[in-house]
Amino acid sequence: MLILGIESSCDETGVALVECADARVPQLRAHALHSQIQMHQAYGGVVPELASRDHIRRVLPLTRQVMSDAGRALADVDVVAFTRGPGLAGALLVGAGVACALGAALERPVLGIHHLEGHLLSPFLSADPPEFPFVALLVSGGHTQLMRVDAVGRYEMLGETIDDAAGEAFDKSAKLMGLGYPGGPALARLAEQGDPAAFRLPRPLLHSGNLDFSFAGLKTAVLTQARKLEGRLDDPASTAKADLAASTQAAIVEVLVKKSLAALAQTGLRRIVVAGGVGANRELRRQLDAACAQRGVRMHYPELHLCTDNGAMIAMAAAMRLQAGVATANRDYAFDVRPRWPLDAAFS
Ligand code: KG4
Ligand code: ZN
Repeated sequence: MLILGIESSCDETGVALVECADARVPQLRAHALHSQIQMHQAYGGVVPELASRDHIRRVLPLTRQVMSDAGRALADVDVVAFTRGPGLAGALLVGAGVACALGAALERPVLGIHHLEGHLLSPFLSADPPEFPFVALLVSGGHTQLMRVDAVGRYEMLGETIDDAAGEAFDKSAKLMGLGYPGGPALARLAEQGDPAAFRLPRPLLHSGNLDFSFAGLKTAVLTQARKLEGRLDDPASTAKADLAASTQAAIVEVLVKKSLAALAQTGLRRIVVAGGVGANRELRRQLDAACAQRGVRMHYPELHLCTDNGAMIAMAAAMRLQAGVATANRDYAFDVRPRWPLDAAFS
């Protein structure tokens, strides 16, 4: 069975083709991505209206490219999957509209997918896919959650952020330091040249005794520190900016690692999956790898380029849902989208 997946929830248009047969892990046949980062850079963040218009321009050429790369025709597609939410309403409508129009034209069923389930199952796209059950650390621009994953569609929330997401903490701190958008990767790059112990920044809820996160206070602490440093931040002869970047990254990573270890201890599970854009952070991977190796815990990541938004994870989640029998694609082309869609509400 061939599944076409379309992702358009934010600032990346992603299209992919996944094939599934029998009970084997579905295989990625081709995928294509267009990032709008350059377009939004001038505004310092995502402009929703521009995002929607750009998805309209990109989605069909990307679909043609994927079909051609996979050596298949659109008529070979069995199911068209799309991101139904959460995300920007206008952006989601583009992917959902195109997916349902394709489904209607090809007379094939369609399936709406939860964006976070896409991230959650994205490690199954790697050469070393995980086995259930596992703990999942989902760290993206909008979400920071620890989950227990027992099977496709069986997700139990263990803890989540009560305010900002980890990606937001990276992005907002980066913005305060004048590092532009998206700040996460820029801050991480600069951090490589800095001293993570230079500034003592708060580790919110580190000892809260539960698995919740809070990152809103961190950006205030970064702002206070940045003000104290005044001119030194932009002095090329000073390491102050790199030190602040490294200290910020250290604070975020320490909280993510310690809470992940606590989730493993609480559940007794020996396997952890890290997904979402912040999962691309090298320092997070390095520290988690070291901590897990010490404890005999297996780590699984999606490939680096599949950590951030992409169509492959949407096609993969659709394939796995269909294969597990927890979803059926349908021919109701009167689509809707869910800009706000809590993961536990979607799967309870
Ligand atoms: O999963 P994603 O592509 O989009 C959402 O669904 O939100 O995640 C984007 C987030 C942004 O906040 C971005 O700054 C962050 O992931 N990010 C990183 C890195 N690469 C992306 N944060 C820290 N280090 C990175 N290397
Ligand atoms: Zn995402």
